[in-house]
Amino acid sequence: MWWLSADRPSVSAARILSGNRPLHEELDRALADLIGAEDALTLVSGHATNVTVIGHLMGPDDLIVHDALAHDSILQGCRQSGAARQPFPHNDTATLDRILTNVRDRYRRVLIVVEGVYSMDGDTADLAALIAVKQKHDALLMVDEAHSIGVMGKTGGGWPSTPG
Ligand SMILES: Cc1ncc(COP(=O)(O)O)c(C=O)c1O
Repeated sequence: MWWLSADRPSVSAARILSGNRPLHEELDRALADLIGAEDALTLVSGHATNVTVIGHLMGPDDLIVHDALAHDSILQGCRQSGAARQPFPHNDTATLDRILTNVRDRYRRVLIVVEGVYSMDGDTADLAALIAVKQKHDALLMVDEAHSIGVMGKTGGGWPSTPG
Protein backbone atom coordinates (compact mmCIF):
# COMPACT_ATOMS: atom_id res chain seq x y z
CA MET A 1 0.00 0.00 0.00
CA TRP A 2 1.50 3.33 -1.05
CA TRP A 3 0.94 5.13 2.26
CA LEU A 4 3.18 2.65 4.04
CA SER A 5 6.00 2.99 1.55
CA ALA A 6 9.26 4.41 2.93
CA ASP A 7 9.92 6.64 -0.09
CA ARG A 8 6.51 8.32 -0.53
CA PRO A 9 5.37 11.53 1.11
CA SER A 10 2.42 11.58 3.45
CA VAL A 11 0.38 14.24 5.20
CA SER A 12 0.28 12.22 8.41
CA ALA A 13 2.82 14.18 10.49
CA ALA A 14 6.20 15.91 10.52
CA ARG A 15 9.27 13.76 9.79
CA ILE A 16 10.23 13.60 13.46
CA LEU A 17 6.96 11.69 14.10
CA SER A 18 6.21 9.80 10.91
CA GLY A 19 9.75 9.09 9.79
CA ASN A 20 12.64 10.53 7.83
CA ARG A 21 12.22 9.51 4.18
CA PRO A 22 14.65 9.59 1.25
CA LEU A 23 12.49 12.31 -0.29
CA HIS A 24 13.11 14.58 2.71
CA GLU A 25 16.85 14.19 2.26
CA GLU A 26 16.62 14.84 -1.49
CA LEU A 27 14.75 18.07 -0.73
CA ASP A 28 17.32 19.11 1.92
CA ARG A 29 20.16 18.42 -0.57
CA ALA A 30 18.45 20.33 -3.39
CA LEU A 31 17.88 23.35 -1.13
CA ALA A 32 21.48 23.30 0.13
CA ASP A 33 22.72 23.19 -3.49
CA LEU A 34 20.39 26.04 -4.45
CA ILE A 35 21.84 28.38 -1.84
CA GLY A 36 25.40 27.00 -1.94
CA ALA A 37 25.32 25.73 1.65
CA GLU A 38 26.96 22.65 3.16
CA ASP A 39 23.58 21.24 4.21
CA ALA A 40 19.94 22.19 4.81
CA LEU A 41 17.11 21.06 7.06
CA THR A 42 13.46 21.50 6.10
CA LEU A 43 10.83 21.99 8.79
CA VAL A 44 7.04 21.83 8.46
CA SER A 45 6.42 25.57 8.02
CA GLY A 46 8.09 28.96 8.02
CA HIS A 47 6.44 29.83 11.33
CA ALA A 48 7.64 26.61 12.98
CA THR A 49 11.13 27.20 11.58
CA ASN A 50 11.50 30.58 13.27
CA VAL A 51 10.02 29.42 16.59
CA THR A 52 12.10 26.23 16.63
CA VAL A 53 15.44 27.52 15.35
CA ILE A 54 15.51 30.77 17.36
CA GLY A 55 13.87 29.16 20.40
CA HIS A 56 16.43 26.36 20.59
CA LEU A 57 19.65 27.99 19.43
CA MET A 58 19.43 31.00 21.71
CA GLY A 59 19.14 31.05 25.51
CA PRO A 60 18.89 33.27 28.60
CA ASP A 61 22.52 34.46 28.39
CA ASP A 62 22.03 35.70 24.82
CA LEU A 63 20.68 38.75 22.98
CA ILE A 64 18.52 38.77 19.86
CA VAL A 65 18.45 42.03 17.88
CA HIS A 66 15.85 42.06 15.13
CA ASP A 67 14.51 44.43 12.51
CA ALA A 68 11.47 46.31 13.86
CA LEU A 69 9.33 44.87 11.03
CA ALA A 70 10.25 41.25 11.78
CA HIS A 71 7.48 38.68 11.32
CA ASP A 72 5.56 37.55 14.41
CA SER A 73 7.10 34.06 14.23
CA ILE A 74 10.52 35.63 14.87
CA LEU A 75 9.15 37.31 18.01
CA GLN A 76 7.63 34.01 19.16
CA GLY A 77 11.03 32.36 18.74
CA CYS A 78 12.62 35.13 20.83
CA ARG A 79 10.06 34.57 23.61
CA GLN A 80 10.59 30.82 23.55
CA SER A 81 14.40 31.19 23.81
CA GLY A 82 14.41 33.26 27.02
CA ALA A 83 17.04 35.55 25.44
CA ALA A 84 16.99 39.33 25.81
CA ARG A 85 15.34 40.99 22.79
CA GLN A 86 16.00 44.37 21.25
CA PRO A 87 14.42 45.65 18.00
CA PHE A 88 16.30 48.12 15.78
CA PRO A 89 14.59 50.60 13.41
CA HIS A 90 13.69 49.08 10.04
CA ASN A 91 16.77 48.57 7.85
CA ASP A 92 18.85 50.91 10.04
CA THR A 93 22.21 49.13 10.27
CA ALA A 94 23.92 52.21 11.74
CA THR A 95 21.63 52.02 14.80
CA LEU A 96 22.11 48.26 14.96
CA ASP A 97 25.87 48.84 15.04
CA ARG A 98 25.46 51.43 17.85
CA ILE A 99 23.28 49.08 19.93
CA LEU A 100 25.85 46.30 19.66
CA THR A 101 28.75 48.63 20.43
CA ASN A 102 26.95 49.54 23.68
CA VAL A 103 25.80 46.11 24.87
CA ARG A 104 27.68 43.30 23.07
CA ASP A 105 29.96 42.52 26.03
CA ARG A 106 26.96 41.78 28.31
CA TYR A 107 25.92 38.68 26.34
CA ARG A 108 27.36 35.27 25.51
CA ARG A 109 26.00 35.19 21.95
CA VAL A 110 24.16 37.72 19.80
CA LEU A 111 21.78 36.83 16.96
CA ILE A 112 20.78 39.47 14.39
CA VAL A 113 17.51 38.55 12.63
CA VAL A 114 16.27 40.21 9.43
CA GLU A 115 14.18 39.31 6.39
CA GLY A 116 15.63 39.24 2.86
CA VAL A 117 12.49 40.84 1.42
CA TYR A 118 9.86 42.48 3.64
CA SER A 119 6.42 41.30 2.61
CA MET A 120 4.34 44.31 3.69
CA ASP A 121 6.71 47.05 2.45
CA GLY A 122 8.34 45.17 -0.43
CA ASP A 123 11.79 46.52 0.41
CA THR A 124 14.96 44.51 1.04
CA ALA A 125 17.75 44.10 3.58
CA ASP A 126 21.25 45.47 2.94
CA LEU A 127 22.98 42.16 3.54
CA ALA A 128 26.50 43.44 2.81
CA ALA A 129 26.12 46.06 5.59
CA LEU A 130 24.57 43.48 7.94
CA ILE A 131 27.41 41.03 7.35
CA ALA A 132 29.92 43.79 8.18
CA VAL A 133 28.09 44.55 11.48
CA LYS A 134 27.79 40.84 12.31
CA GLN A 135 31.53 40.32 11.78
CA LYS A 136 32.49 43.45 13.72
CA HIS A 137 30.53 42.31 16.80
CA ASP A 138 31.10 38.55 16.50
CA ALA A 139 27.35 37.95 16.10
CA LEU A 140 25.23 35.39 14.26
CA LEU A 141 23.05 36.56 11.34
CA MET A 142 19.74 34.90 10.42
CA VAL A 143 17.99 35.94 7.19
CA ASP A 144 14.36 34.86 6.85
CA GLU A 145 13.92 34.21 3.12
CA ALA A 146 10.16 33.50 3.24
CA HIS A 147 9.56 36.09 0.51
CA SER A 148 12.79 35.78 -1.45
CA ILE A 149 13.92 32.17 -1.88
CA GLY A 150 12.86 30.76 -5.24
CA VAL A 151 12.23 34.19 -6.75
CA MET A 152 15.17 36.49 -5.93
CA GLY A 153 18.81 36.17 -6.90
CA LYS A 154 20.29 35.00 -10.22
CA THR A 155 19.36 31.36 -9.62
CA GLY A 156 16.48 31.86 -7.17
CA GLY A 157 18.68 31.28 -4.14
CA GLY A 158 17.23 34.24 -2.23
CA TRP A 159 18.09 37.88 -1.63
CA PRO A 160 21.80 38.23 -2.48
CA SER A 161 24.39 40.08 -0.39
CA THR A 162 25.64 41.70 -3.62
CA PRO A 163 22.50 42.51 -5.65
CA GLY A 164 22.86 42.72 -9.45
C1 LIG B 1 8.88 36.67 6.97
C2 LIG B 1 8.00 35.49 7.29
N1 LIG B 1 8.51 34.46 8.00
C3 LIG B 1 7.76 33.39 8.31
C4 LIG B 1 6.44 33.29 7.89
C5 LIG B 1 5.64 32.07 8.26
O1 LIG B 1 5.67 31.20 7.18
P1 LIG B 1 4.56 30.05 7.01
O2 LIG B 1 3.31 30.74 6.57
O3 LIG B 1 5.14 29.14 5.97
O4 LIG B 1 4.40 29.35 8.32
C6 LIG B 1 5.87 34.32 7.15
C7 LIG B 1 4.48 34.23 6.68
O5 LIG B 1 4.04 34.97 5.84
C8 LIG B 1 6.66 35.46 6.84
O6 LIG B 1 6.16 36.50 6.16
